[in-house]
Amino acid sequence: MTRIALITGSNRGLGRATALALARNQIRVVAASRDGAHDVVEEIVASGGEAIAVRLDVADLTSIEAARVAVLAGIEKEWSASTIDVLVNNAGVGLFAPLGDIAAEDFDATFSTNVRGPLFLTQALLPHLSEGARIVNVSSSLSRHSSPATSVYAASKKALEALTRSLALELGPRGIRVNSIAPGPTATDFNGGAMRDSDAMREFLSGQTALGRVGDPDDIADAISALVSHEFRWASGERIEVSGGVLM
Ligand SMILES: NC(=O)c1ccc[n+]([C@@H]2O[C@H](COP(=O)([O-])OP(=O)(O)OC[C@H]3O[C@@H](n4cnc5c(N)ncnc54)[C@H](OP(=O)(O)O)[C@@H]3O)[C@@H](O)[C@H]2O)c1
Repeated sequence: MTRIALITGSNRGLGRATALALARNQIRVVAASRDGAHDVVEEIVASGGEAIAVRLDVADLTSIEAARVAVLAGIEKEWSASTIDVLVNNAGVGLFAPLGDIAAEDFDATFSTNVRGPLFLTQALLPHLSEGARIVNVSSSLSRHSSPATSVYAASKKALEALTRSLALELGPRGIRVNSIAPGPTATDFNGGAMRDSDAMREFLSGQTALGRVGDPDDIADAISALVSHEFRWASGERIEVSGGVLM
């Protein structure tokens, strides 16, 4: 049976690339985003895939509940389905500031999006996840190595990894695999687009990476696609870094 995947933040960056990669692998896509992700849905449908869009702000509990209802209605209408097989908690925000410049509201916004969002979205969708469903939480290589001014962001991703391991244990009896993917520096809008647009930043980070370049969105999307495949059925509670070997 054709599987259904929900990807948060699928309007751009890694989420968009993941939505396209999963669709290429014949997975039906629920493209969730704050703006409704219609462009990515149109692109998937134009290339022969199947997708619907859902509006979702992961930092807002009311939006999570509204999205839950919309997802259920959408997959029933479009595919006569009632369950989700893959959940990719991708939406995230960076906070790059030295200690003296960190404001409480920025800390809260970072954790609301990067930690609270994935937790409560997973909770909301739990009754609607199929037996053997896959959950992928998008972490960061910064949970392993340190760079200046990344304390709050790194802590949020480390927290997400802790949730990943705990939920893997909790949801294991239903056959649900929960893993995290930890990308290294990747060329998207993230951090003001620095990894994509700044030659100096790209050169600096490439020099810190075994494979000698920063990542492309497809490097990460294809890894997520592999992680939710049958071949990775025996992995749960894992953190898999896809960083080209940054700061080994
Ligand atoms: N790029 C990297 O170097 C890198 C490295 C390691 C980890 N990551 C992680 O990878 C994930 C994707 O990052 P990216 O590189 O694709 O960054 P990006 O291009 O900045 O995209 C971030 C995505 O997250 C969405 N988002 C942010 N807050 C949201 C919220 N409250 N509700 C719903 N969606 C929200 C954005 O939606 P809007 O368009 O509405 O803002 C956008 O779709 C993040 O979790 C990030 O921490 C990225």
